[in-house]
Amino acid sequence: MSPILNQAGGLRYHFRGIRHRSRLWQPFRKAVGRWLAGFCPSGPLLLVAPSGGYCLDPGWLSQVQEGGRAIHAVDWDPLAPWFFGLSHPRASVHWHRADLIAGGGKELERLLASLPDARVLFCNFLGQAELASPREYPAFAARLSSQLQGRIWASFHDRYSGQIRPSSLEPFESTAGRASPEELMQHFYRHSRSGELNEHTLPLLPEGAHHCYWQWELRPGVFHLIEGVRGLGPDPLVAGTVPVTHS
Ligand SMILES: C[S@@+](CC[C@H](N)C(=O)[O-])C[C@H]1O[C@@H](n2cnc3c(N)ncnc32)[C@H](O)[C@@H]1O
Repeated sequence: MSPILNQAGGLRYHFRGIRHRSRLWQPFRKAVGRWLAGFCPSGPLLLVAPSGGYCLDPGWLSQVQEGGRAIHAVDWDPLAPWFFGLSHPRASVHWHRADLIAGGGKELERLLASLPDARVLFCNFLGQAELASPREYPAFAARLSSQLQGRIWASFHDRYSGQIRPSSLEPFESTAGRASPEELMQHFYRHSRSGELNEHTLPLLPEGAHHCYWQWELRPGVFHLIEGVRGLGPDPLVAGTVPVTHS
């Protein structure tokens, strides 16, 4: 599939990002920024598949930058660095271009080996990876968890999507592992069942992570339920500032 013309990024996504980032996507971007407040790296940061960085809060990126940490980013889209520069003109980013899924994720493995101290943030990628590369995805998904062992990492990604407007704008936080479909349906979709939504395929991730959920209106009338996962890594993370909401 072409890096410029595909369902999980590329030109269509850039145009959508430019159009919606400062209005329709603003509440989601702010929620991601609050969640990331607990993920300020002490060393370099690697952004995985950030596209034009439309969902990344500029305040959080400046905080990383002002702390003197190097920011790396990897995407297979050759237009991503240019669009990222438009959205975050003050960010200085070392770009890498690679197909992260092909060959069982060997390019990701190579990049991680070259950045042994980097904290890794998957930027709305894991829930789209199967759609972008369906044939290569199973081998990539099977190896990801072991590639992240011993790393400090986080990911925000699609868990569900569809045309049902969530009934709650409040985030839902789960400290007891991954939220079940029932918990999410009760919190976000009071009158619906999970079968009425698309469930995104996700790789198995290391155990013990902290999970948070938000809604994101991708375009008018189309909603994604995003799962934010912070891995525990070798040293404990600072607690985030996301409001705790229990159903
Ligand atoms: C939904 S977009 C990411 C959204 C972005 N994080 C944001 O903040 O707006 C998914 C990204 O994954 C990238 N991508 C998809 N398949 C890829 C692959 N096989 N290798 C590298 N990048 C890939 C796309 O180019 C796109 O930038």
